[in-house]
Amino acid sequence: MKKLFYILCLLLIFADVASAQKLPAPPDYGRVVINNYSEKAGFAPVVFDHWLHRAMFTCRICHVDIDFAMEAGATDINADSNKKGFYCGACHDGNRVFGNKKMFASCSDKGQQDDSKICDKCHSYRKQVKKEYNFETFTAKWPQKGLGNRIDWEDVEAKGLIKPVDSVEGISIKKSPLRAREDFSIGSKGSWMTDVIFSHKKHTVWNGCEICHPDIFQVEKGATRYSMLQIYGGEYCGVCHGKVAFPLIECQRCHTKPVQ
Ligand code: HEC
Ligand code: HEC
Ligand code: HEC
Ligand code: HEC
Ligand code: HEC
Ligand code: HEC
Repeated sequence: MKKLFYILCLLLIFADVASAQKLPAPPDYGRVVINNYSEKAGFAPVVFDHWLHRAMFTCRICHVDIDFAMEAGATDINADSNKKGFYCGACHDGNRVFGNKKMFASCSDKGQQDDSKICDKCHSYRKQVKKEYNFETFTAKWPQKGLGNRIDWEDVEAKGLIKPVDSVEGISIKKSPLRAREDFSIGSKGSWMTDVIFSHKKHTVWNGCEICHPDIFQVEKGATRYSMLQIYGGEYCGVCHGKVAFPLIECQRCHTKPVQ
């Protein structure tokens, strides 16, 4: 009886949340607006799109090697750090080549470089900026699934339509022993593993190991206990799911059996 009541409450919370904050449109899902300094300096806030970058790079490169926080606005990125080759400037340095193309540079001293079109590429929030990459054209031929970006990211990767780069010269730190790509899944264990699927193999493609271990999950069987409410609050699986990976309202993608 108590359990039933709890589950009913959870469902009500989800219904409430789902209607209150409608999911962003597919191109905007996973978009981060960064504005710790820009507006104060008279520039438009910076817009970062996950759909474009995750099509080219693994999550690991940016969130482990380059050390971006997995929380909007939490990294202390500024014009200076970019100029010195950190954060966005680790790739966007005006020299580095990806796919035969030279990267556009990030911040320069005000006035020194008057190519505001380049500044506008990133400092674009609420501005009419002509971008090179358009979500609809870029993803037009990809298999679709679910909500969020409405892209079947697993399938797109498995079919080789994208090949996320996992190592960038001069950026990637030396591989630690933990990073061995063992091909394994956690079998049925704990109270939830029977009806929630979690594939190490599939997650490692994007995430390596260090994104999750030890910060989000301890490397020990059953050591971490967590509830759906905590996940919804942005902890554990909710660090990624609901923000960049598929949204939490797609219950059945994790709960293979209907929640009863
Ligand atoms: C090219 C670099 C890059 C790649 C690749 C990348 N991210 Fe991010 N991610 C960022 C940046 C930059 C931020 C914003 C950090 C900040 O504002 O301090 C961010 C923020 C996030 C956030 C927080 C979003 C929010 O709204 O609070 C999550 C979650 C996240 N990333 C997950 C992922 C996952 C999962 C992947 C792979 C599927 C991924 N990222 C791939 C650069 C990247
Ligand atoms: C791991 C490398 C990497 C990092 C780090 C990175 N980018 Fe990019 N980004 C790319 C590549 C590669 C492209 C495609 C560039 C091209 O084809 O000209 C791109 C494209 C873009 C575009 C698209 C421009 C357009 O015209 O459509 C924007 C905007 C952008 N990045 C913003 C950012 C911001 C903001 C950050 C930091 C918060 C960042 N990027 C960090 C690799 C990176
Ligand atoms: C690849 C993306 C990118 C490009 C291109 C870019 N910036 Fe930035 N810039 C950032 C990010 C990210 C921040 C930190 C945003 C924040 O927290 O407000 C930033 C911050 C700034 C700031 C805020 C003050 C400070 O000290 O941090 C200024 C000024 C600035 N950029 C100037 C420029 C100029 C001028 C250009 C064009 C020559 C430019 N930026 C191009 C990503 C970019
Ligand atoms: C997306 C997050 C995520 C990624 C990425 C990840 N893990 Fe895990 N890992 C988990 C979760 C969740 C558990 C279960 C924790 C629990 O039961 O408390 C776990 C448990 C483990 C365990 C203990 C369980 C067992 O079967 O012995 C080991 C060992 C482990 N992971 C190793 C790795 C290695 C090695 C990698 C990289 C190849 C990796 N993990 C990548 C989330 C992740
Ligand atoms: C570090 C970020 C991250 C964390 C933490 C994370 N995931 Fe994922 N997960 C992803 C990404 C990225 C994908 C690829 C699909 C996408 O982006 O929508 C994915 C895909 C999945 C899939 C579909 C693939 C499959 O296995 O069939 C399931 C199910 C899933 N996650 C469940 C979980 C569960 C359960 C947890 C917590 C125990 C968890 N995830 C934690 C990033 C994460
Ligand atoms: C990203 C994967 C994921 C998604 C999506 C997801 N869940 Fe969960 N859920 C979990 C995990 C993991 C647990 C296990 C927590 C435990 O018992 O250790 C869980 C536990 C639960 C529980 C058990 C009680 C509790 O709070 O722990 C209920 C009920 C539940 N989820 C309902 C839902 C509903 C309803 C949805 C859709 C609105 C949903 N979940 C979407 C991963 C997910």
